[in-house]
Amino acid sequence: MAITLAQDTIEQSEIADLCTWMQANNRLTKGPLCVAFEEAFAQWQGSKHAVFVNSGSSANLLMAQALLEAGRLRNNIIIAPSVSWVTTVTPFMQLGFDVKLCDCDTQNLGLDIDHLEQLCKEYQPSCIILVHVLGHANHMKAINDICDRYDVVLIEDSCESLGSILDGKKLGSIGLAGSFSFYYGHHISTIEGGMVVTDDTELYHIMLSIRSHGWGRDVPKDVHASWQADYEIDEVRDLYTFYYSGFNLRSTDLNAYLGLSQLKKLDAIAKKRAHNAERYAQNLSDFWCQTSDVSLLSSFAYATFVENRLQVYQRLKDADIESRPLICGNIGLHPFWIKRYGKASFAHADQVHHQGMYLPNHYHLSDADIDRVCEVVQEVAKPFDLD
Ligand SMILES: Cc1ncc(COP(=O)(O)O)c(C=O)c1O
Repeated sequence: MAITLAQDTIEQSEIADLCTWMQANNRLTKGPLCVAFEEAFAQWQGSKHAVFVNSGSSANLLMAQALLEAGRLRNNIIIAPSVSWVTTVTPFMQLGFDVKLCDCDTQNLGLDIDHLEQLCKEYQPSCIILVHVLGHANHMKAINDICDRYDVVLIEDSCESLGSILDGKKLGSIGLAGSFSFYYGHHISTIEGGMVVTDDTELYHIMLSIRSHGWGRDVPKDVHASWQADYEIDEVRDLYTFYYSGFNLRSTDLNAYLGLSQLKKLDAIAKKRAHNAERYAQNLSDFWCQTSDVSLLSSFAYATFVENRLQVYQRLKDADIESRPLICGNIGLHPFWIKRYGKASFAHADQVHHQGMYLPNHYHLSDADIDRVCEVVQEVAKPFDLD
């Protein structure tokens, strides 16, 4: 049997329930379920507010535009991780930010603290976006300290770490805002989907507006009324008045219906993923192992480093086992980045780029599946140490 990177967490019974719901409801978008899913997610996550969007990439775009529209940034300089996802970085490039890449930590693969401090000194950025790579936390104490000292806004791309816990807090709820993905390969699925969480009520209202073209009708009545008053907008004009420069990043009630049922399984999914990661680490004790201070590792996939990645990949493929490079490797070595800024090399991110790979971890993976993956890896892989 094939061992795939991901297996859908949406069960047939959920699809059947969804079909029944659709037949009984003709309000499939902008109905009550998006709001219900947002409230349930915010509560589960331990954040004040949540905004449901159509992907994790859209969630990052929404955070970027909301920070600009809210006037929270004193300049357009942002630090982003070199080991991240393409749409961690591209929304900021597209919106005219000056993006500086930071090398990765050799244990958690998040931001390298020394390099981060150096970049803050040199560029005085107003914002940092980080990625909790494959479910592991960054060095949050040191990063928060740097943010305080250099007066920097911190946002978290938590698309790979839904459910991971650090010092009693879920990742994604530490910075000013955090993003999540519900693409089917992620921890839970709304088919496609994403979320932004924040405790900042003003930013939340702006995100509600920007998600829907920039209009005012999705924000609470009193806030909406104050926006109308500020610009002397009458009731009819208000229906098509745009207060912020927006997008359409909405999802639908159909996706929210799935989100509500998926949320019920999320604790069990996070625990199973933690168990799977532990088993990989035991089986592959001769290989580099990603570590961080999380008390629960809601692992996205299992990271490893090998000298002979192509050979390992091919052997796994022959054995019907999917694997991937370790996310983007170094963003600074991708054509889209090189075309804009030229090549950006970093000591550790370059090693991630060339030697890093990840192995499947999902809810439906059995211990026997993991043992089979590890056997194939052991047969052929030559360990590589990130230094
Ligand atoms: C760190 C990170 N950010 C953003 C995304 C984008 O999420 P989506 O595929 O839902 O757009 C991903 C996707 O895997 C990711 O890993």
